[in-house]
Amino acid sequence: MHLTISSIPAEWFWGEKALLSTNKHVMTIHLIDNDPLIAIQKAGRIISKQGIREIALIGDAWNLNRCWAFWQGFYSPKKESCITWPILLDKDRKELNDRIKVVDWVRHTINTPADELGPEQLVQNTIGFIFSIAKNDANYRILAGKSLLDNRYLGLYSVGRSSDRNPVLLTIDYNPSGDTKTPTLFCLVGKGVTFDTGGYHLKNSVFMNSMKSDMSGAAMLTGALALAICRGLKKRVQLILCCTDNMINGNALKAGDIIHYRNGKSVEVMNTDAEGRLILADGLIDASLIKPKFIVDCATLTSAAKIALGNDYHALFSFDEILAKELIKSAREEHEYFWRLPLAEMHRCHLSSNFADISNVTYCNSTITAGASIAAAFLSFFIENYRCNWLHIDCSASYYEKEVEKWSAGSTGLGVCTLANFLLAKEKD
Ligand code: BES
Ligand code: ZN
Ligand code: ZN
Repeated sequence: MHLTISSIPAEWFWGEKALLSTNKHVMTIHLIDNDPLIAIQKAGRIISKQGIREIALIGDAWNLNRCWAFWQGFYSPKKESCITWPILLDKDRKELNDRIKVVDWVRHTINTPADELGPEQLVQNTIGFIFSIAKNDANYRILAGKSLLDNRYLGLYSVGRSSDRNPVLLTIDYNPSGDTKTPTLFCLVGKGVTFDTGGYHLKNSVFMNSMKSDMSGAAMLTGALALAICRGLKKRVQLILCCTDNMINGNALKAGDIIHYRNGKSVEVMNTDAEGRLILADGLIDASLIKPKFIVDCATLTSAAKIALGNDYHALFSFDEILAKELIKSAREEHEYFWRLPLAEMHRCHLSSNFADISNVTYCNSTITAGASIAAAFLSFFIENYRCNWLHIDCSASYYEKEVEKWSAGSTGLGVCTLANFLLAKEKD
């Protein structure tokens, strides 16, 4: 099948403002008064749903971003596809290939069932993928199972100890200078929960069904680092992934348990389903010890962010006005969607505990609270200088349970390009 783009409306019998028309072996996308990239992505999805898996993009109306929009919509988690791309400038062709390689990995990894992708597999896949791109410019360190306890990574250990599969902390040090004294520009800290049952605060089945995707933050940051390296990143970046299941057994976390973190903070666990913040705390303590210029964490942390923004935007939180604006700018340049939600000192006051320094959730069940902002505030207790140079992203746009006009069911890969762009923008500062 051939696919072309036209700015002329389809003939009347295709219906008013028809997006697509067909003539023998050629389909046409009609761009009239619609946003071209959104229209092309929707067309990609419609064509994919028809079962067409081989397609050649023809004509000269295609460019890098239009090809990319088509790929995003055409992607299917169930079927391979074969797209013949139009002629593009060499640099655009390379960028398109890099985006496909990276985002395909991210989407596939997130869509993989939890049974096939536990913490250990996630870590091994991540190492394999990053090293296929970074070659000799990176090193890694793994801490797993009992070693986490021995080294006092007690958030990650406590959440992970109730699974038959060991929790794992992965640190990948991308350092093209090869000099261990080189300062680190970014620490990227990702939530890699390979399945979130909620623990003893068990999720109901509707909410549990998509929880294989609770490692989206880790996958998204891996993709961002990989794409930034493809685009020529030369500064040192450390990726810290906190990988675990959140399960139930006789040794699981219980309500009221207290975790004593390495930074001196104690946390009373008042909800075992707020596990993301418990494991990220360990990653953020490590990040603070490294003393990078910037810390960015990504996590599917709250359903509250999804309630606020749907699946359309990732939620951004920061005390740092300038840095937040720069991230939004990076997103706009990549045609991706991020929306800033509030994070202020007042949110840090909602975590009081009767038995520890803080609780992992707001105690009182009867009032409605700003769940996503309070989750972000919780993380701030584990960052030395939380008011500057730190961004938290609650990945509300990474996964659709059902397909929609623009996206197949499953992972979107949204955010990878924005974060890659942001890493490179700050490298040049
Ligand atoms: N992984 C979930 C958040 C989530 C749910 C992300 C659905 C995407 C879709 C997280 O671990 C969680 O369960 N958070 C709780 C926190 C609450 C207990 C304060 C939530 O948001 O319900
Ligand atoms: Zn949870
Ligand atoms: Zn979770």
